[in-house]
Amino acid sequence: MTEQTSSDSMSEVYLQISPNILGSFPKFRPPVNLYFFDENIAQVKKYHEAEKRLGKDQQETVGNFAADGILFLLREDYRVYAKHLSKNLGLVLTEDDFTPQEVAEIFYQALYDRMTEFLAQPTEKPYELLSKDISILDEYLWTDPSRVEYLMKSLHPEYDWAAHSVNTLFVGLALFIMALKGKLNRAALTSVAMGLILHDMGMVNISTFILENKGFLVRADRESIENHVETGFTKLKRLGINDPIMLQCILQHHERLDGSGYPSRVIGKDLSLPGRLAGVADSFCAMLSDRPHRKGKDARQAALALIKDQKKYDANLTKLLGVLLTQGVGSVITPGETS
Ligand SMILES: [Fe+2]
Ligand SMILES: [Fe+2]
Repeated sequence: MTEQTSSDSMSEVYLQISPNILGSFPKFRPPVNLYFFDENIAQVKKYHEAEKRLGKDQQETVGNFAADGILFLLREDYRVYAKHLSKNLGLVLTEDDFTPQEVAEIFYQALYDRMTEFLAQPTEKPYELLSKDISILDEYLWTDPSRVEYLMKSLHPEYDWAAHSVNTLFVGLALFIMALKGKLNRAALTSVAMGLILHDMGMVNISTFILENKGFLVRADRESIENHVETGFTKLKRLGINDPIMLQCILQHHERLDGSGYPSRVIGKDLSLPGRLAGVADSFCAMLSDRPHRKGKDARQAALALIKDQKKYDANLTKLLGVLLTQGVGSVITPGETS
């Protein structure tokens, strides 16, 4: 197969495969079709079919193509490629061929998978894998916090715990970065990120029958839902985690400024910043997602509902949420600004 390309359209149609990325592919069966630029005829040609066996000589040839910068995949194979990269997330930090939106989708995919694994088995190993991927996200955002804008464009409204956890992480991080503009601290960024993604880790014990109940919940059911806060806290402690910011996200994401929340009915200034942040991000994401008994709200409507509810939600954070949706992160922080 031969395809006509000008150098301008080249990057729209193809993504370059670096030696680093090639090295992460299964050696004998690359997950995507491979192409190379044939200089003799100045055209891109297909070299190998995805998932077919690559012989030893072919491996060498492909390695040389990658080293010479002439090995490519089709951009339309991006989904398969993103899935592959999400398992090797560190690679997104070394590659600059992706658009920020593509990187955001890779992060979503990776964290969604990690969170699904962790919720199914909240033990040390899945926790470590999750926290490793979170530290890669932190590194990516620390280099340029304005990138969080693209994470906001990668929210997924489906009704699913892992999706809700990643959405809450993305929204909460955007608000945190905007709120702390100029005073962002790397360690706090990591703790907040972990706290946000894990805020509902205690929910896994609740039956879907209770969660999907359309009508009136009996007291025992409501108590069982409210217990997810304590359950999450206990599970996290059992993993040996004592990070106060993470614990505040989990313990206080259902507390409200007027004392109407749960489990401790914390009031006003006793409600920590991580708790307020997790509360706003969590409520916003819950409103966005489709539930068995109702359609999700439009993002601006959801933000407006929170902005109006100043008795319960931190006015500074909800105002930032409004700014985020109408003007974007860039209206508050400039690209590349870390401190
Ligand atoms: Fe919750
Ligand atoms: Fe939640």
